[in-house]
This record gives sequence, C-alpha cells and structure tokens, in this order.
Amino acid sequence: MLKVTENQEVNFSEEMLAQFGEIVSHYPEGREKSALLPIMHLVQKEYGWMSVNAMDKIAEYLNLQSIEVYEVATFYTMFHLSPKGKYVLDICRTGPCCLVGAEKIMEHIEKTLGVKEGEVTEDGLFSWRGVECIAACGFGPVLQIGPEYTFYENLTVEKVDQLIAELRKKEQEK
Ligand code: FES
Repeated sequence: MLKVTENQEVNFSEEMLAQFGEIVSHYPEGREKSALLPIMHLVQKEYGWMSVNAMDKIAEYLNLQSIEVYEVATFYTMFHLSPKGKYVLDICRTGPCCLVGAEKIMEHIEKTLGVKEGEVTEDGLFSWRGVECIAACGFGPVLQIGPEYTFYENLTVEKVDQLIAELRKKEQEK
C-alpha cells in the first residue's frame, strides 16, 4: 500500500490505469460512471484512503464532476476520507451489540492501541472506529476489517488481544 498524504499530488500508475480500463470495459459505452465504485475500491486499496486529489483524478478519468465522486465517498462508510492505519477495525456500536459488550470492546481497543477513534497508531498499522450494524447481530460483539471485510464475532477482550497480536506478527514476518 502506498502512503498518500493530505495534499499529495496523485498520479495513477500504468498498472492501475490498466486495471481501470479493464473495469470500464465491463460497461456499455457512455455508462463509464458505472465503474466508479470498483475504481474507488481499487484506489483506496492502493492508497489506504480517499484523498481529495485522488477523487479528483478518478473524476477526471471517468469524465465526471468531482462532486459526483465526493458524493459516493461520503455516502459509504467503507471509504476513508482521512489517512488510516493499514488495518481499520470497524466495531459495531448498534444496540444489540452494545447489549453484549461492544462499548467495553471499544474501550479496550482504544486503550490497547493507544489511539482514539479515527486516529492511526504510530507504526501506521491500526485505526479503529465504531460503525452501525454490520449484519451479524446474533454474533456480537463483532468487528470487521477491510478491505476484505473479514468478520470477527463473539468478541472478548482476550480475542481482541489475540487478533491484534496476530496482525502485528503477520506484519513483522513480511
Ligand atoms: Fe451489531 Fe447488528 S447490531 S451487527
């Protein structure tokens, strides 16, 4: 994943442009806008978040107004509008999960990672945030980690510690 800062100019690589072209080819001529969501996912996977410059470049590529990209990015919570850690822990904070301890899990994550909601750990690995229902209500407390949106269910503080340790280990082994 490339690190893109707030005001950094964005130039998509040849490889990314080839992937964009492949995505666009799935839609009829004149309907290139349909490729917007998959292209945004690809850009976020590459840069870790959606900077304004990246959104403007996507708009330019698809012949859209920048506002059309901003609208989508601000509607869907899976798009990050500020730099985030490599792993973003989305913890469900809706009623049913709160009843079984989601708030305790969030407090524990904040304490363990040493960052507040939306912030990034010093090593650039983690961010966390509370999100609305992620449709695993019978298995709460639950969290998901993008971009694959892997679910971790029936969380306890021990399970959270284990998950964070495993992700750290995975990064150290790279
Ligand atoms: Fe938490 Fe639905 S309330 S997943």
